[in-house]
Amino acid sequence: MKKIALTGIKPTGILHIGNYFGAIKPALRLAREYDARYFIADYHALNTVKDPQMLAAHIREVAAGWLAAGLNPEEVLFYRQSAIPETFELTTILMAFTSKGLMNRAHAYKAAVQENLENHADPDAGINMGLFTYPVLMAADILLFNPDVVPVGKDQVQHVEMAQDIAQGINFTYSGEILKIPQAAVQAEVAVVPGLDGQKMSKSYGNTIPLFAPEKQLRKLIMRIVTNSQGVEEPKDPETSQIYRLYKLFASAEEQQALAKQYREGGMGWGDAKEELFQVVHRELSPLRDRFEAIIAEPGTIDTILAQGAAKARPLAQATLNRLRRAVGIAG
Ligand code: ADP
Ligand code: TRP
Repeated sequence: MKKIALTGIKPTGILHIGNYFGAIKPALRLAREYDARYFIADYHALNTVKDPQMLAAHIREVAAGWLAAGLNPEEVLFYRQSAIPETFELTTILMAFTSKGLMNRAHAYKAAVQENLENHADPDAGINMGLFTYPVLMAADILLFNPDVVPVGKDQVQHVEMAQDIAQGINFTYSGEILKIPQAAVQAEVAVVPGLDGQKMSKSYGNTIPLFAPEKQLRKLIMRIVTNSQGVEEPKDPETSQIYRLYKLFASAEEQQALAKQYREGGMGWGDAKEELFQVVHRELSPLRDRFEAIIAEPGTIDTILAQGAAKARPLAQATLNRLRRAVGIAG
């Protein structure tokens, strides 16, 4: 039997190339070896996205993005969190085993409180219970489907550990292996993809290159990458240039060596380097964008794929939930 990998994708914005190299590509690679369960965490997104049209659009865009990137719904269980009501019943059960102190220690909640304190605001200003209990809902997403591994970025490791703690509490209380203890899998070799300004690419920083940007926008964004004031003739260090760091993600080994040589020799301006970058990015992303455009043009098909995924996922979720209901004495 194959091992199970599960991860959730929050539909809070359009996908960018940081998401592609940091999450989508590694997860699709993992899906070749594991029984993969990848879902759209739409109720997690509701904590921050309160515009209904926007949320609905992000859900479809993110789904279309994964499909365009190569997710095969025949092989990967692909569904929306909101289509699995068992998640929310499990959340209620898990709440009874989650200490408030554990939630107080969650990084995202602590950061929000800290920001309020720095602004001399009420510590709980703007913090909803969805943010406070975020790790419990995430634990339910995970524990419902018995994964062995949960591929996530570094910032999510604490949440997976909380899911472990909660599951261990339940197994201990009822003296049995009722819930499988999952392990976080952080892709060690995935470097942080830099944004247009050199910081980590993130939608929170407004420095992203959208994965499906039209050609003209793509070129414009690449031309906006911040560089230093070195002149055309000056030799340049490829390793400290974010143009080159981005180039490495898209170019072959020979192309990388050739561009590095040009950097070191001098005689190549930043504009030329950006043009080289544009060429390789465009080469890789334009077929992806074409697939995305075709998929997003048929929202009904996306909805059907996700509904079919949910139909396959629910019996698995029900089995876990029934096991737990019996264990706790709420008959099932
Ligand atoms: P954002 O920072 O834009 O809000 P998310 O937090 O929604 O992105 O990230 C979704 C996934 O993409 C996570 O697994 C995260 O680790 C990965 N990811 C996001 N930005 C980057 C980046 N710049 N480099 C590598 N991986 C990234
Ligand atoms: N919290 C994750 C993020 O922000 C998304 C997520 C929700 C998730 N439920 C999950 C990830 C379950 C892994 C497993 O990226």
